[in-house]
Amino acid sequence: MHTAIKGVILAGGLGTRLFPLTKATNKHLLPVGREPMLYHLIRQMRLADIDDILVVTSTDHMGDVVRCLGSGEDFGCSLSYKVQEKPRGIAHALALAESFSAGQPICVILGDNIFEYSIAPYVAHFRQQGVGARVLLKDVGDPERYGVAALDEHQVIEIEEKPTKPKSSLAVVGLYLYDATVFDIIRGIAPSARGEYEITSVNNAYIARDQLRYDVCRGRWTDAGTFDSLAEANRILGETQNRILNQD
Ligand code: DAU
Repeated sequence: MHTAIKGVILAGGLGTRLFPLTKATNKHLLPVGREPMLYHLIRQMRLADIDDILVVTSTDHMGDVVRCLGSGEDFGCSLSYKVQEKPRGIAHALALAESFSAGQPICVILGDNIFEYSIAPYVAHFRQQGVGARVLLKDVGDPERYGVAALDEHQVIEIEEKPTKPKSSLAVVGLYLYDATVFDIIRGIAPSARGEYEITSVNNAYIARDQLRYDVCRGRWTDAGTFDSLAEANRILGETQNRILNQD
């Protein structure tokens, strides 16, 4: 038996960068390849043996999300839902998962992230790690769009959110593995200059405790929050017909 890890998919926010596609529905229900975007995240979690999943989304489109995903029966898992009233940041959305997580470790995925390969090995590494946090890094050409990791020869020593002068080309991907202390950490962080509770502040708190480890993402990865990245997400999952590649 391995440690039970609960899943959290963050699908709040307004999707303003994709307007008018997001006028009538939630960004995370837009088609990617042959399926709504959120199917990909649930399939990723199922491949990593996660079968109890919370979906956090905004008030406006909660009805559409539930209509699309249902109880989880079609995916062989249990789905629960929570509303984030206002898009106050990724860490704010994650705070809503505290009672759901019930003291278990969690695997958090941003609802607009698409991975060519299965995330299962990264989750397995975190099961072995046991305490702290684990992030996933990807070498990208436009690091200033993301959280960017600075490394020494062993570890991540700092993450900067959307830096104008990135210290590396390693983006922090929207997949985070946390132990149960993450909710205490979130209570201790302040909003950033843009007024959001940043997931980067959470990850930096784990770095300060020397408890953040990382993997490097294999294959193609993209978010799908802009027209260009949504097109890339469609290319990736269009080519595989929404099949997620195994890392074995
Ligand atoms: O995609 C990876 C990047 O995602 C990371 O490198 C960054 O460190 C991280 O901050 C995030 O950056 P973005 O600017 O791309 O985040 P965005 O505001 O687009 O939100 C990404 C997803 O998070 C979105 O699809 C839904 C969820 N979200 C976001 C916010 C702001 C929520 O559920 N609630 C929120 O309030």
